[in-house]
Amino acid sequence: RKPVTINTIQSLYRKKEPITVITAHDFPSAHVADHAGMDMVLVGDSLAMVAMGMDDTSEVLLDEMILHCKSVSRATKGAFTVGDLPMGSYEISPEQALASAIRVIKEGRVKAVKLEGGKDMAPTIAKITGAGIPVLAHIGLTPQRQNALGGFRVQGKTTSSAVKFLEDALAVQEAGAFATVVEAVPAEVAELVTKKLSIPTIGIGAGNGCSGQVLVQVDMLGNFPPGRFLPKFVKKFGNVWEESLKAIEQYKVEVKSRAYPAREHTYPMPKEVFEEFEE
Ligand code: KIV
Ligand code: NA
Repeated sequence: RKPVTINTIQSLYRKKEPITVITAHDFPSAHVADHAGMDMVLVGDSLAMVAMGMDDTSEVLLDEMILHCKSVSRATKGAFTVGDLPMGSYEISPEQALASAIRVIKEGRVKAVKLEGGKDMAPTIAKITGAGIPVLAHIGLTPQRQNALGGFRVQGKTTSSAVKFLEDALAVQEAGAFATVVEAVPAEVAELVTKKLSIPTIGIGAGNGCSGQVLVQVDMLGNFPPGRFLPKFVKKFGNVWEESLKAIEQYKVEVKSRAYPAREHTYPMPKEVFEEFEE
């Protein structure tokens, strides 16, 4: 398929066709997302939890994000690929952010970067876009700031918080972001703000009035053991963990019982040759 570019995304937005986004963290997860025809693939710093087993995103390093971006971008021949700037790699100054963004693009081989923050990050977004690197903003619930937000809480639920959310949205648009992720805000607020903007909103836990949707792939595939907490907005479209468990348990049974490998999994040797060898 034709590679998705920033123009493709703008044209989907103009046609009001929902923009499909999913995360990926390595070659196989990116490959399947690309084959499924996702418009965008995001190397989200949620990989800290879903691929590295960390407790939250605050631990993942820029070098680690770049390594994952490299693997993902080798697979995404069609989807527009975006890499997250991890906590600590962009907050000090717009210069620091641009230096980090350049590394993610040059070494990670993705096409754009994402960073969390609204009004306060506008100069940073302007700096990066000014260097010709597309920026996907991320407003509403910003997980890297969970300690300052008092946890993973829905944003924009009060009038003042909804006003702040709108100001953030307008600020990132003004700063040059090509789109913005909108995480965990009431559907009504997300829809109204989407209407006020002239860039696409990519919702997660933000209802059906956004310009597109994003989900963490491991979550939507059900690729995790039973009992894990999932936010309300995640729909489990698959049961990959159960499938993998069943397959590996079956492999174990068949190796223990010598049912595997069977004849058809084995390289034969002509009988006469073997007899000669056996002598
Ligand atoms: O890190 C991530 O996966 C994200 C998406 C959920 C938007 O930021
Ligand atoms: Na993220």
